[in-house]
Amino acid sequence: MKILVINGPNINMLGVREPEIYGTSTYSDLIVFIEKAAFRLGVEVAFFQSNHEGAIVDAIQEAYGTYDGIVINPAAYTHTSVAILDALKSVGIPAVEVHISDVREREDFRQISYVRAACVATVMGKGFDGYAEAMEVLCET
Ligand code: DQA
Repeated sequence: MKILVINGPNINMLGVREPEIYGTSTYSDLIVFIEKAAFRLGVEVAFFQSNHEGAIVDAIQEAYGTYDGIVINPAAYTHTSVAILDALKSVGIPAVEVHISDVREREDFRQISYVRAACVATVMGKGFDGYAEAMEVLCET
């Protein structure tokens, strides 16, 4: 099984951005964490991070025919992007939405997720563990 892990804007700033919400571990730490979890699950994993909506759409389209699952933390684009929703629907690859923080307990504008309609599950508020849980869900899907 091949899984593509996509992270949206400002996830590259983990460790620096709002540590009281996102913790002090960096994006590189996240990669290492996911690689270890993928190894345990026996899945192949690749990574993509971008601060640009269109680049994320391109990455989803390019995943078609190559990846069996997508783990996506669209970050702020979760709450705004019909384009990412449409891209996920276009390729039809099983996808799981992940958020490091528990967006349910945050601002009103974070209560909408456009991408959720194209995802088989959502994991939120579990920190980095949420990415491992998302991969487990894809293994069972
Ligand atoms: C986030 C939550 C989003 O609301 C926010 O814009 C992010 C990160 C999370 O992982 O908790 O950038 O997706």
